[in-house]
Amino acid sequence: VFSSVVQAPEDPILGVTVAYNKDPSPVKVNLGVGAYRTEEGKPLVLNVVRRAEQLLVNDLSRVKEYLPITGLADFNKLSAKLIFGSDSPAIQENRVATVQCLSGTGSLRVGGEFLARHYHERTIYIPQPTWGNHTKVFTLAGLSVKTYRYYDPATRGLDFEGLLADLSVAPPGAIVLLHACAHNPTGVDPTLDQYEQIRLLMRSKGLLPFFDSAYQGFASGNLDADAQSVRLFVADGGECLTAQSYAKNMGLYGERVGALSIVCKSADVTVRVESQLKLVIRPMYSNPPIHGASIVATILKDREMYEEWTIELKAMADRIINMRQLLFEALRTRGTPGDWGHIIKQIGMFTFTGLNREQVAFMTKEYHIYMTSDGRISMAGLRSQTVPHLADAIHAAVTQ
Ligand code: LMR
Repeated sequence: VFSSVVQAPEDPILGVTVAYNKDPSPVKVNLGVGAYRTEEGKPLVLNVVRRAEQLLVNDLSRVKEYLPITGLADFNKLSAKLIFGSDSPAIQENRVATVQCLSGTGSLRVGGEFLARHYHERTIYIPQPTWGNHTKVFTLAGLSVKTYRYYDPATRGLDFEGLLADLSVAPPGAIVLLHACAHNPTGVDPTLDQYEQIRLLMRSKGLLPFFDSAYQGFASGNLDADAQSVRLFVADGGECLTAQSYAKNMGLYGERVGALSIVCKSADVTVRVESQLKLVIRPMYSNPPIHGASIVATILKDREMYEEWTIELKAMADRIINMRQLLFEALRTRGTPGDWGHIIKQIGMFTFTGLNREQVAFMTKEYHIYMTSDGRISMAGLRSQTVPHLADAIHAAVTQ
């Protein structure tokens, strides 16, 4: 009965890892998926996460009961505080509905389905380019996806005029997806002043912001600084949605832990919104897993563990910044044609190199370097030892 099923293509990001795993070459490097590696090239479990897990294991009063549909209450409260700030009036006025979801992707999907059911405008504008999964998540959630200009290949920076022009002709009420910080894949963020202009335009047209916050702490090494864009929108008292992921900033990739928060106009609307979120979640996966959220809650509620987390987070961010510098210098030393200043200017886990599809294919074939075909490299997968190999490959690709 399934003989007519056609072979599906691999995922553009996760498929890179599949191809990498099949390559027997000893010099292969995986710069595809955005997953942190140590200077030794190993996945990292944060010390503070290990400590939290020990505490959880040693606490014999802990059981494996189902969580509520909305997840772990402590985790939800602490997650809202982390992104909106502990002094946020929206939290104090009970205007935030937060539900624990399956990391960033699950939060986006639940938010998208809620909007498709309960919001009057079904169009969502996403930046061009954006994370490859956004279009699929929102289309399958029942929204209609359009793009707004974001990245200018000529300057390798923000196309701010294009962004404002596209949002100003969006239908009133349209949803706008914004990356809270460390835009994936470009590493290009609006400045706070630009965010303020975006906010004024969006609020004047009643456009609804939906923030994807997958890198809080990874852009600058500072959790508050990386939440400023979101806080700017929440401070004006208007509505917004935020999808948070703890995959990168706590290294909890496979634990699938994240949260969706919907900021509403009043406390009674918030209660109704939360009741409807439960109706989205229950038939999808019933209720979320307990372990990852318990780790996060343990860390966020303990002052000392929280401090330890921020130190480890900053160390990850700093190592990535260091890799940017090393790669930039390696290309300069080789006299590689082109201006590679964007490598040190871009923010977060990725460098959007500007290499084209053919150059990427060449680097994979000849140098066993694996990256997404849009020329994005995960700086988090790079180490001092592999920088020269990558620089050789880029040099060969642009001079071939
Ligand atoms: C990425 O963009 O590499 C990460 O967000 C991982 C993923 O799920 O695609």
